[in-house]
Amino acid sequence: MKILNMGSLNIDLTYSVHHIVRPGETIESTGLKTLVGGKGLNQSTALARVSNEVYHMGFIGEDGRFLKEFLNKNNVNTDYIAAVSERSGNAIIQVDETGENSIILFHGANFEFDKKSIDDVLEKFRGEALVLQNEINHLDYVIEKAKENDLFIFLNPSPITDSLLEMDLSKIDFFILNETEAKDITNSKDLAGIQKKLLTMFPESRFLMTKGKKGSIYFDSENCFEKEAYAVKTVDTTGAGDTFTGYFISKYLEEKDVKTAMEYGTAASALSVQTFGAAESIPHLSDVEDFRRKQ
Ligand code: RIB
Repeated sequence: MKILNMGSLNIDLTYSVHHIVRPGETIESTGLKTLVGGKGLNQSTALARVSNEVYHMGFIGEDGRFLKEFLNKNNVNTDYIAAVSERSGNAIIQVDETGENSIILFHGANFEFDKKSIDDVLEKFRGEALVLQNEINHLDYVIEKAKENDLFIFLNPSPITDSLLEMDLSKIDFFILNETEAKDITNSKDLAGIQKKLLTMFPESRFLMTKGKKGSIYFDSENCFEKEAYAVKTVDTTGAGDTFTGYFISKYLEEKDVKTAMEYGTAASALSVQTFGAAESIPHLSDVEDFRRKQ
């Protein structure tokens, strides 16, 4: 099955800091790296570690040529990535000494999606799989048209925004989200409340919720499975969720088995947090297989 990802491509300006800056505070960083990123680009990279049929649609500025080249080198088809006059999207990322991060986004060229280009590309992927995040414009239109073209839709509803909360998400086949995002969507505080509310809001959908160091949980109206996380030394959590998402989706589509997909997503993200950076930290399949054998 082909996998189309309509998603962001960002230049990540990643600062190493002692602690995440507090309101009103000025702090020194201990390092700055310009890295490839964007939830879209990261997830395409992870998808393509497993699948040979990953296509990315997105927009970059002249400053973002290296983002497209990175995807090309990493087994992703980039025929639907176009350069526009707007500058590329970017992210200001702080990574503290414990590996935690905070991120500010500038959407730039990621908001250059137009309805005609969306229609043209979706038509070519009728009946295939679509992966989405919330870092592009016209997301609601994409979802509506994707369903008309019979695509199976995975949504990683990140970041949560007011417009996302107002969108009709009932056509999403599979949500992949973290605990904070699930709390924001449901207004629930505990796991039981979140599960119940999500299944009431979207009874036809499937859910994979990541819980950081507490692992992950899958649920739909009939099944529920949990997977513990591996205890590893964390250097940088940036892109770990994207790594999980990409590996999970590719394995799920390949094997049609949720538990196997959760195992791969968990192992891949455990490796990713041990390396600095977002897309650069996404492990290759052979390393994930090795890691799994050693557990
Ligand atoms: O999920 C991590 C990503 O979020 C970063 O690469 C950054 O670009 C933002 O999109």
